[in-house]
Amino acid sequence: MNIMTEKTLEQAVSSQMSAQSNEIIKMRGDNVTVHYGEKQALFDVNLDIRQNQVTALIGPSGCGKSTFLRCLNRMNDTIDSAKVGGKITLDSEDIYDPKIDVVELRARVGMVFQKPNPFPKSIYENVAYGPRIHGLAKNKADMDRVVESSLQKAAIWNEVKDRLNEPGTGLSGGQQQRLCIARAIAVSPEVILMDEPCSALDPIATAKVEELIDELRQNYTIVIVTHSMQQAARVSQRTAMFHLGYLVEEGATDKMFTNPDDKRTQDYITGRFG
Ligand SMILES: Nc1ncnc2c1ncn2[C@@H]1O[C@H](COP(=O)(O)OP(=O)(O)OP(=O)(O)O)[C@@H](O)[C@H]1O
Ligand SMILES: [Mg+2]
Repeated sequence: MNIMTEKTLEQAVSSQMSAQSNEIIKMRGDNVTVHYGEKQALFDVNLDIRQNQVTALIGPSGCGKSTFLRCLNRMNDTIDSAKVGGKITLDSEDIYDPKIDVVELRARVGMVFQKPNPFPKSIYENVAYGPRIHGLAKNKADMDRVVESSLQKAAIWNEVKDRLNEPGTGLSGGQQQRLCIARAIAVSPEVILMDEPCSALDPIATAKVEELIDELRQNYTIVIVTHSMQQAARVSQRTAMFHLGYLVEEGATDKMFTNPDDKRTQDYITGRFG
């Protein structure tokens, strides 16, 4: 006899749901090109970013990883010489359409940088800043809740709950990076972009941030640039390999690290160049 308990039914439904959500294309790059003045940095990149997955962008220095990442929330708009071509969608909507509000786009597609960059303000204010400018909290109690839950989700609440009024810049590097992740989370993004978020962190802080990335995947779609093959293998489900401005190949991380189709990927992951 096969009696399905409530719990297993719940688990079955939720794993089915996540299987489906993993197949949803959250963002899509369609023939993306980027020029910096005369110099072309990206050539016809076609890449899908799947919902609730971590996609790692790998490849040797200068191959265009950060350039592609910055296309996804129009951070390249801030570089005068940069010209982006092709099409990039978020939930099938063209993010370069003139009717798109870039401030709102960057709330939906948040970013965490290589070097932790908390504002020179209190820990509380670092997290409250975004919700305040986006009008996401009705009153102080509401804001307190947003701040607490963002710090909880970034796995740093316990370390800072008794010092919320102290400057964010007084935290350790790893704590600052988790504070920056809390700041990104506070405006309820759908996608979080991370450009080498652990490169300034020690191994223990790195392990904490990696663990956090894995948890965040439940609620967000994540794109991470990393130079660490171990990190890509540990945190991502999909990996995209770039070389000299081209997307060499993209696939399930397991396959990319055990049996890639392209020799350049093989050479890169085995440390033969880059
Ligand atoms: N602001 C800029 N102005 C001019 N050229 C740029 C600019 N940013 C990047 N580039 C050039 O575009 C190419 C891709 O750079 P990008 O920073 O995207 O590479 P990357 O893969 O992130 O490298 P790294 O691993 O070193 O961070 C490089 O040739 C770089 O010199
Ligand atoms: Mg880079």
